[in-house]
Parts: sequence; C-alpha cells; structure tokens
Amino acid sequence: MLKIGLTGGIGSGKSTVCRLFAELGAPIIDADIIARELVKPHAYALNQLVNQFGADILNSDATLNRAYLRDLVFSDKTKKAQLDQIMHPLIYDEIERQIKALNSPYCVIAIPLLLETQQMQRVDRIAVVDCNADTQLLRVVNRDHLKPEQVISIIASQMPRQQRLSFANDVIDNSGSAEQLAEQVKRLHNSYNLLATC
Ligand SMILES: Nc1ncnc2c1ncn2[C@@H]1O[C@H](COP(=O)(O)OP(=O)(O)OP(=O)(O)O)[C@@H](O)[C@H]1O
Ligand SMILES: [Mg+2]
Repeated sequence: MLKIGLTGGIGSGKSTVCRLFAELGAPIIDADIIARELVKPHAYALNQLVNQFGADILNSDATLNRAYLRDLVFSDKTKKAQLDQIMHPLIYDEIERQIKALNSPYCVIAIPLLLETQQMQRVDRIAVVDCNADTQLLRVVNRDHLKPEQVISIIASQMPRQQRLSFANDVIDNSGSAEQLAEQVKRLHNSYNLLATC
C-alpha cells in the first residue's frame, strides 16, 4: 500500500485536507487523533506522563490538562524531549498497527511533525499543505481564539516554510478557496490511485 505522509504547519489545513481525502474514500490515519486517544483517562501513556511530570498535569476528573502540559514543555527543551520520548514511540506503534489493518491502494497518514521528528522514511511520499504565515495566523486565531503572539511563537517553533516545502513530493496549496483545495485533493487522489497500481 502506498503511504502518503501529510504534513504542514499549524493551521495550514491538514485536517481539512484529510476530510477531503476521506470524502473520496481514502483511509486516513491521524497522529493527532491517536495522540488524543493515547492520553485518555487511565490509559497507559497518560500514566507514563503522570510518572514523568507529576499529577499536576491532570484535571480533577483525571483527564489531561492539555494547556498546562503545553505550557510546561513549550519553553523547556528537556521536558519537551521527555514528553516526545514517551509519546512518539506509542504514536508510531499505533500508526503501524492501523496501516496493517488496511486494505486499500493508498492511505493518508497525517503527521503534523513528520519532518521535525525526521520520520520521513516511514512514508512513501510526502504531501505538504502550504499557505503563508499570515494566513495560518488568521485561520488559527479565528478557529482557536488564541492570542496572535501564541500562534506566532508556535509557527516560529516549527520548520520554516521553504525548508518544509523542500521535502514535498506534492504541494497542496491552501492559500485559496475551499473549492480550489478540493480540486487539488481530487487530482492527488487520482494520481495516488494510479501510482499505487504501477
Ligand atoms: N481554504 C480555506 N479557506 C478558508 N478557511 C480554511 C481553508 N482551509 C482551512 N480553513 C480553516 O482554517 C482553519 C485551520 O484549518 P485546519 O484545522 O484544517 O488546519 P490544520 O493544519 O489541521 O491545523 P492544526 O495544525 O492546528 O491541526 C480551520 O478553521 C479551517 O476550517
Ligand atoms: Mg488539524
């Protein structure tokens, strides 16, 4: 099966693109969804995180306090590395498990930090969802009601746009309308189906 790694900066449109691929019948494996599932109350990964960072990372109902954990690791490289060391192997194990369960010409594996974590070898092709930083900022602020400074610092912590694009086998330009995006996804869907049968 042809494995398409879908990536892009925050708010570039990865989830939107995944929905479009799914509408065309492509199976989607989403690292963000897997990460959320892994830290459900009393799950193994959540217990590991509590062991590492303390019970302060939990809300009173035993769910993960995401905002607290995000702030805890954002400006502390050691803590970020500890978090990644716990989460990344579990996420990639689950991705592999889901791939094995599929039977289709190709699948889309959405991994926001595919390039930052240097996991490109796990996929056959890299599709990058791309728009400029101003567009990312506007869309994320509208979606999440974060402060612009917060979004700007997240964008700055990710791989620079041109460097990310240099890894792309396919670029999905999401600077335009929803219709223009859907058209590109349709074209890629056809070409991935063709490639998968070659
Ligand atoms: N072409 C578009 N025109 C207008 N709005 C868009 C377009 N594409 C995506 N959006 C909106 O921009 C926001 C960000 O898109 P989306 O959530 O798909 O990005 P993402 O890359 O998954 O973000 P994250 O990195 O946070 O997971 C969403 O509110 C989405 O509805
Ligand atoms: Mg998303």
